[in-house]
Amino acid sequence: MAKLFIPGPTEVRKDILDALSHPQIGHRTEEFRDLFAGLRPGLKKIFHTDNDVLISTSSGSGFWEAAIRCLVEEKVLHATNGSFSKKWAKVSEACAKDVKKIEYAWGDAVKAEDVDKALSEEKYEAFCMVHNETSTGVASDLEAISKVMKKHPEVLWIVDAVSSLGGIKIEVDRLGIDFCLASSQKALALPAGIAVASVSKRCYEKAEKVKGKGYYFDILELKKAYDKDETPYTPSIPHLYALKKQLERIEKEGLEQRYARHSEMADYVRSWAESKGFELFPENGAESDTVTCIKNTKGIDMKSIKKDMAKKGYSIDSGYGKLNEQLEKEGKPTTFRIAHMGDLTLKEVQELTAELEKYFR
Ligand SMILES: Cc1ncc(COP(=O)(O)O)c(C=O)c1O
Repeated sequence: MAKLFIPGPTEVRKDILDALSHPQIGHRTEEFRDLFAGLRPGLKKIFHTDNDVLISTSSGSGFWEAAIRCLVEEKVLHATNGSFSKKWAKVSEACAKDVKKIEYAWGDAVKAEDVDKALSEEKYEAFCMVHNETSTGVASDLEAISKVMKKHPEVLWIVDAVSSLGGIKIEVDRLGIDFCLASSQKALALPAGIAVASVSKRCYEKAEKVKGKGYYFDILELKKAYDKDETPYTPSIPHLYALKKQLERIEKEGLEQRYARHSEMADYVRSWAESKGFELFPENGAESDTVTCIKNTKGIDMKSIKKDMAKKGYSIDSGYGKLNEQLEKEGKPTTFRIAHMGDLTLKEVQELTAELEKYFR
């Protein structure tokens, strides 16, 4: 099997895959409650929070919908700066909310001053943004935006950390993020099919007032069960065993070391790309530490390289489809991405680049 260097799903280590095959247990047993409760401390550490960390055995999009359906009665502000942030705004529209957007060019980061302006001009119940836009390799400055959000305490701050949590430090409590969600199949290096979200008390208070939350993604239902170390319905128990294993591995590595490894891999890939004559796609200073998006300024045929690399055991990305279609229309260089997230090591990334550069000669 080819090793995954794509921005999700990411490479899953053998001991985690093994954990998935743990014999099934009943989800209303003491054994399950022990398993579930045992996940709590490790999850809180990853989010740097004392808030509850709810688990949904859906993908991350489930928590997009949960946040919108539970935390917004009418009006929500979204920042859109790439494919996923755009799609999330569409989810809010599909939930019949009144959606306003701060729209950026793809490749740009979300700017604190724009958020401040929008929140000062109109009343919103919540502000949604994607921390790490996987489609463009852009990480926005949560630190600066946090200062603005503290000026607007009536607005709930909802952050998608799908492709950053566990790879880039996000201090939920210090920053004051109300709802922070992530998928398992990115920097957490687990199989897809599980999502986690830290949820502030303000979120539960708001959810009490919101009608039409539905059932499956009602955070109050999840909270009721969470307080009994259970889930409201049958969860994917194998994923929970895999999460348990991964939390142990993360504890062993150390979170700070994990962030440092991501930043080291990112620095390496960025300078490697530039040394090969490419440019980086994100605006200067907003480059992500989990995925590097590279302008294919040399017009290399990444699609055929991707096929060839797969035969050699490397699964790579030849660029985000919608972004490349648009760039092609505009007559601009397309992009490709190198993901360096999860449990990948610098050595593995260097093996990949050594193989890739054979095509650039
Ligand atoms: C930033 C971001 N948000 C949300 C999603 C959707 O997550 P999922 O596929 O887990 O539903 C993705 C998927 O790649 C993503 O990259």
